[in-house]
Amino acid sequence: MRTPIIAGNWKMHKNVGEAIEICRQLDELVADSPVEVVVCAPFTALSALNALGLKKVKIGAQNMYYADQGAFTGEISPGMLVDVGCQYVILGHSERREIFKEDDELINKKVLKALEVGLRPILCVGETLEERKAGNTEQIVVDQTTKALAGVAAEQIGEVVIAYEPIWAIGTGETSDGNDANQVISTIRQTIAKLYTAELAGQVRIQYGGSVKPGNIAEFMEQSDIDGALVGGASLKVQDFVGIIEY
Ligand code: 13P
Repeated sequence: MRTPIIAGNWKMHKNVGEAIEICRQLDELVADSPVEVVVCAPFTALSALNALGLKKVKIGAQNMYYADQGAFTGEISPGMLVDVGCQYVILGHSERREIFKEDDELINKKVLKALEVGLRPILCVGETLEERKAGNTEQIVVDQTTKALAGVAAEQIGEVVIAYEPIWAIGTGETSDGNDANQVISTIRQTIAKLYTAELAGQVRIQYGGSVKPGNIAEFMEQSDIDGALVGGASLKVQDFVGIIEY
């Protein structure tokens, strides 16, 4: 059985005080949930969240560089994230790929480095609207998954969480329907089975992301291959995020 994982991606929202307030409340409200709960906050809030000693909610980052240290102005190292209590890091989000021009090779380096230092990557894959209309969805996610996982050892693959986020569904209110998302996610799982084994693929958790709300989460969670959600906008309000976690 795969433990469901619901992660909030706060993107570039919330100052330190707001982050503390939300995580304190969230930690109490979901204390007894069987679901693994992660908040991926801005870098500036991570240290303060770590100091709260949260019992249930785990802390994640939204990006990192792959070098240990050095002359990389403006970047954050994997070790720095571990140092402030992060257990997860989102890698390859479509906003990083599109706005900051991250390619599969860079994302692969980050995935390998995250695993090396003991951070669990939440690896994002997904197609644009044009790619979907052209019928290329499956090819795109297979390709992104395969390239990002190059060199990941069989013993490490169970640490990786994959988030299928169709880019046209992010922040738009449009969602993939449950069946459709499940089909793409089962293709991702088959890809992992080909790269590793069916047994290992059965251990990897794969989330859906893109306009997930309290009102539509159940449609995704009832699917056979969907193990959780990566939530943007609706993770910024405690009540909405709790509503999703309590699907
Ligand atoms: P929304 O939930 O706001 O659509 O964002 C999804 C997302 O990008 C999570 O990483």
